[in-house]
Amino acid sequence: MPESTKKATLNIDGKSFELPMYSPTAGPDVIDIRKLYADAGVFTYDPGFTSTASCDSTITFIDGGKGELLHRGYPIDQLAGKSHYLEVCFLLLYGYLPSAAELEDFETRVTRHTMVHEQMHYFFRGFRRDSHPMATLVGVVGAMSAFYHDSTDVGDPWHREVAAIRLIAKLPTIAAMAYKYSIGQPFVYPRNDLDYASNFLHMCFSVPAEDYHVNPIIARAMDRIFILHADHEQNASTSTVRLASSSGANPFACIAAGIACLWGPAHGGANQACLEMLREIGTVDRIPEFIARAKDKNDPFRLMGFGHRVYKNTDPRAKVLKQSADEVLELLGVDDNPLLQVAKELEQVALNDPYFVEKKLFPNVDFYSGIILEAIGFPTSMFTPIFALSRTVGWISQWKEMIDDPQMKIGRPRQLYLGETNRDYVDIENR
Ligand code: CMC
Repeated sequence: MPESTKKATLNIDGKSFELPMYSPTAGPDVIDIRKLYADAGVFTYDPGFTSTASCDSTITFIDGGKGELLHRGYPIDQLAGKSHYLEVCFLLLYGYLPSAAELEDFETRVTRHTMVHEQMHYFFRGFRRDSHPMATLVGVVGAMSAFYHDSTDVGDPWHREVAAIRLIAKLPTIAAMAYKYSIGQPFVYPRNDLDYASNFLHMCFSVPAEDYHVNPIIARAMDRIFILHADHEQNASTSTVRLASSSGANPFACIAAGIACLWGPAHGGANQACLEMLREIGTVDRIPEFIARAKDKNDPFRLMGFGHRVYKNTDPRAKVLKQSADEVLELLGVDDNPLLQVAKELEQVALNDPYFVEKKLFPNVDFYSGIILEAIGFPTSMFTPIFALSRTVGWISQWKEMIDDPQMKIGRPRQLYLGETNRDYVDIENR
């Protein structure tokens, strides 16, 4: 922790309490309230954690006002333009850009772990074929602790390292298997001569009956999607992983918890919901109707892929994805994709509407990603599993950071209790 250079004073009923403050390397100062209950006998109240820093971290920084996202200090647009996913994984996990030898060693370690235990193939068969791939993913990743119990001792640094590599290596295999299972095709084994993104495409789209050649343009677009979803500081699913692991639970169980949280439409599930919304809108002339619904307080409809807890400016990931959507569709020879037209027009209309301007609602990462994923050939049900496999490295990096943190404690929030106070039990015949 940095030295406390400033103090905040809190006055309660005429008594004053001094609270230490810390200045981060970037972002607003924080007030340390850890001793507040012991000293003043009060809790703080912050449902949704809108003003609460739950940990200190050196991994990712977001400036929501500027629309800036940095991983270990490097801007996301530079990483998306110049790096590739496994290099970004190394950066997130270990904190620096690797040398050529370090990168080769890391890539080899990940590649050597891409297969899953053969018994897992039978485990999949317990699911209904029409299960959503996210349902299968939560179950199978949770079950990894039964298959890989030689890397579940969180107190052992070697177990932690092996678990991290296994999760990064096997998530694409498991996500591809969930997809193949849902469409009734045979599982496709990984190919270790392919790069990470090409191997994922191979496992999703090849069949034993024919040769399949990965289009390098599509592989690059896939890799960029992985990079753009790799980490996003203390979002809901990452906080879920941290909270689950604060009890000492094993990494596979914790990542399964993160996947479950990601699935919701307010979080990672928004990519599927956004494409379904664009399809429902269908043509640009129906946009005003949907904008009106999004603004109507009596209608639960929200513009999916719009708005963010932290970004009060354009999400920098959405900027890269918008450009990528144009490039991918052009390279695939699709020049008049109706969904892209609807998305672009919808963005323009919303950005010029006082409701969205005043509330600072801008497109987020989920607004354009679905258009690219659909052009690549994925059904909407695979969008959130792709987000989950990309985010696994972020969850694992944050999990490792937390376990190494000497200040780590079990996460245990308090509450503002508004229920009944102590009262006597009433026998059923007297109620
Ligand atoms: N459409 C219409 N109105 C919206 C939207 C939207 N997409 N997002 C927020 N608002 C309104 C909301 O009704 C509220 O209005 P008021 O102040 O009058 O009550 C105001 O803007 C603030 O919204 P909030 O729900 O209090 O903000 P939040 O920080 O709690 O929620 C959010 C953030 C992302 C859950 C929300 O913007 C949302 O539901 N967006 C749509 C779903 C989505 O795209 N999620 C993906 C987020 S980015 C990727 C990820 O996290 O996985």
